[in-house]
Amino acid sequence: MPQEPEEKHDHGPLNFPTGFLWGAATSAYQVEGGNIHADWEDFKSAGQASDQYNLYEQDFDLAKSLNHNSHRLSIEWSRIEPSEGEFDQKEIEHYVKLLKYLKKLNFTVMLTLWHVTLPKWVADKGGWENGQTVKYFERFVKKIIPEIGEFVDLWITVNEPGVYVYETYIVRAWPHAKKSLLGQIKTLLNLASAHKKAYKALHQIYPAGKPVGMANNVMSFEAFHKHSLTEQLAVTLNDIFINHLFYFLTKGTHDFLGINYYFHVRFKHQGLIPEPVNKLQQIHEISDLGWEVYPEGLFDVLADLSDDIPIYITECGIATTNDDRRNRFLIAYLQEVSRAIKAGVNVRGFFYWSLIDNFEWHLGFDPRFGLVEVDYDTFKRTPRNSAQVYSEIIKRNGIPHDLLKLLGHGIRVKDVLKEKIEE
Ligand code: BGC
Repeated sequence: MPQEPEEKHDHGPLNFPTGFLWGAATSAYQVEGGNIHADWEDFKSAGQASDQYNLYEQDFDLAKSLNHNSHRLSIEWSRIEPSEGEFDQKEIEHYVKLLKYLKKLNFTVMLTLWHVTLPKWVADKGGWENGQTVKYFERFVKKIIPEIGEFVDLWITVNEPGVYVYETYIVRAWPHAKKSLLGQIKTLLNLASAHKKAYKALHQIYPAGKPVGMANNVMSFEAFHKHSLTEQLAVTLNDIFINHLFYFLTKGTHDFLGINYYFHVRFKHQGLIPEPVNKLQQIHEISDLGWEVYPEGLFDVLADLSDDIPIYITECGIATTNDDRRNRFLIAYLQEVSRAIKAGVNVRGFFYWSLIDNFEWHLGFDPRFGLVEVDYDTFKRTPRNSAQVYSEIIKRNGIPHDLLKLLGHGIRVKDVLKEKIEE
């Protein structure tokens, strides 16, 4: 009888490329506190937020102790230019000190120049709807680059223009909310032009090195019925508008693609027009915000966007108070990143959102995205178990096989890791 070939299993860890950037991301208004000149103050104030303005050394020490080799953060325009044309040197010095500290700890620094908030004076003049804002932004960028540039390795010009337009003009949950198609279009075009100006300014000062990109919110789309023409059309149109349009408007001004991945949407034909259904909670885990956990979507968007330039996952994370869910999230999503790399996608880094719990915009402080828990009464930081899991993955530059094995078995990642740490 012919012998059955012996089955071979690969029990090695899922390794990532050498030099892969591992870190977490934050944005200034969401963590710093005390940003009294920002437009959000009159809408929904973050107050002291996570008090990172004062506690940044503690936060960066923590990230270091958790093996992160890279960190993404933003600077707050309203702090640096609280009134038109007047730059606050003391606040610039603050950022110099903070960035120097990150460099002292050997982090590769990714810095975002604009992340959601505007100085009140810019908002009063119409915010991004006003073409002049591009000029104000360019002046701010040209002022700040020479002051802090030596401490920055990778630049993000603007964060998620599409989400900004969506939250301001479509669901109208953010400041300056209004119903205006023209406003939407102008805002998107002005943000595209702001990106291009910042790209140019950065390359004038740093012709070589210091890659520049932006962070785009990308989503994975699927047709509920594979053979429905209208559902497939909805998938294609949404892919074009949400995932590709901004890159198209800013073609030739990206040294890398920065992608923020949170959402998977299925289009289902219910009435005349296919509608997004995001309610498969029974079969998929969801976050505390009801967002579906769908790791495969990360592979799909990476494959969809793969081009001849590097990709950084500039944000990916889950709001949950169930930290074991965050563990599974991390392992499953990173497994997809690794699959994408094996399939030839040039992914160079992963930034978990977020390092610490923070102000989740109009949703306030309830959603807990942090690897590190923040007690908002005392500002005490406590790393969650998931911070250790992520740290273990980073240490090995890969996902250890025994962590991977757990995904399908409902075993608490926490307990296995405890054994590993005690070994
Ligand atoms: C934004 C962050 C936000 C996160 C979670 C991204 O859209 O860049 O500011 O906190 O998603 O919602």
